[in-house]
Amino acid sequence: MKFKAFSFSFFLCFLLISSVSASENAKLTFPSGPIDNFETFVKAFDSKRCAECHEDIYEEWSKSYHARSMVSSIKGIANFFTVGVPKEWEKELKKQEIIKCLDCHLPQIKFATESLAQEIAGYMIKAKIGKNKEKENAIAKLKRINISCYGCHNIKIAGTAPGITGHIKPGVIYTAGEGESDAHETEYAPILKRSFFCIQCHGVYIAPDGESTYCNTLSGSYVHSYLGHGGRKTCQECHMYRKSRGHKMPGGHNLEIVKEGIDFQAEIRAFRYGVGKWAPAVNVEAFLTNKAGHRIPDG
Ligand code: HEC
Ligand code: HEC
Ligand code: HEC
Ligand code: HEC
Ligand code: HEC
Repeated sequence: MKFKAFSFSFFLCFLLISSVSASENAKLTFPSGPIDNFETFVKAFDSKRCAECHEDIYEEWSKSYHARSMVSSIKGIANFFTVGVPKEWEKELKKQEIIKCLDCHLPQIKFATESLAQEIAGYMIKAKIGKNKEKENAIAKLKRINISCYGCHNIKIAGTAPGITGHIKPGVIYTAGEGESDAHETEYAPILKRSFFCIQCHGVYIAPDGESTYCNTLSGSYVHSYLGHGGRKTCQECHMYRKSRGHKMPGGHNLEIVKEGIDFQAEIRAFRYGVGKWAPAVNVEAFLTNKAGHRIPDG
């Protein structure tokens, strides 16, 4: 009897030791199936999971509009959920309609169950029309979900060329570089260097049911006007590599890059005119040249 108890506790110790050493080498894991709970959903895709080792990139990303892709668009999205879907299209607000906005504004919506997708849509609506505490709580929740690292480095990788990329693997972090690490598996995905990676969200969206959403039209003018007239730069070249902008990816809300986009020249000529009395006057001719790779502003 005594001997049995001893061997049992010995066995427990062994289990403890082996599980500690296993977790030291454990790679980051990500969900492969649906999630029903908001807190679990937030934690699974949180960019903070990457911050510990990629601190600088995390800081840059935090300043980007990708980091606030839900709170920054409350008015427009809540309007679609309360007027567009139920009143204009006379449809129920189900996940199938919700993704028509959130597939881009929150790519991990793919992993939300029907009830969690509706819960998140509910926060969007309360953030616009809710009262006091209810509104504050909804906004606080929306601040925690966004286009996270995993959204670009995994979920949206296959969105561009599924025939080539095949089935993306949930545990893999895709990169256009050659970095490898014990923390997570990495796989080479050159699409991250191409404009089309950005265009899949910065352009027309074709929903699985065949309907399309026109949220922004900027990439249309990139393809037809800019590339069509001999422009050769990628989105990444102007928005990431230039001036080491990296993951800040600045746009219309950043004065520095806005100035880069517009060339302003004016010709001013002074003269006098009048009938009877000669009044001084000026003739101003202003030339605005768009130097961005697309139409500005977008919308
Ligand atoms: C194809 C991807 C995609 C889809 C689908 C999409 N959006 Fe957007 N949305 C974007 C992008 C990209 C921007 C940023 C555009 C820009 O600044 O040029 C944006 C910006 C916005 C903004 C402006 C936010 C601001 O900072 O001013 C609102 C509001 C918005 N979207 C609402 C919606 C609504 C409502 C839907 C669903 C009917 C929707 N979006 C669907 C990609 C998308
Ligand atoms: C909007 C999409 C997007 C988001 C969000 C995003 N990345 Fe990236 N990331 C890219 C692209 C595109 C590149 C490739 C740039 C290149 O090499 O051409 C890249 C490159 C990288 C690289 C490798 C090379 C480098 O630039 O140093 C690392 C590491 C990286 N990202 C980590 C992260 C982390 C960590 C986060 C979250 C804090 C994040 N990314 C969020 C699109 C994104
Ligand atoms: C425990 C540390 C750790 C964590 C957590 C971590 N990484 Fe990494 N990651 C590394 C190391 C180390 C490398 C290899 C060196 C390098 O390229 O930066 C790497 C490489 C990468 C690369 C390839 C960079 C290249 O040059 O090709 C990408 C992209 C990347 N990580 C993204 C992420 C994302 C996204 C997350 C969060 C989901 C994450 N990492 C979490 C340590 C970590
Ligand atoms: C998963 C979809 C997605 C991908 C991929 C994506 N974006 Fe975005 N991007 C958005 C959305 C949505 C917004 C607007 C967020 C908001 O304001 O609500 C945005 C905002 C921006 C802005 C800021 C616009 C402003 O008004 O200030 C810039 C610049 C930008 N993205 C550039 C890029 C570039 C460059 C790439 C490719 C390297 C890229 N994005 C990839 C969805 C995406
Ligand atoms: C030749 C450089 C260049 C290229 C290429 C380029 N951009 Fe821009 N982009 C700019 C400049 C400069 C601005 C700032 C002008 C402004 O918003 O007034 C800008 C602004 C933006 C904005 C904010 C628009 C707004 O309404 O204010 C978004 C979003 C954006 N770019 C995304 C992209 C995407 C996606 C691509 C690739 C399809 C791309 N850009 C290619 C230079 C470029």
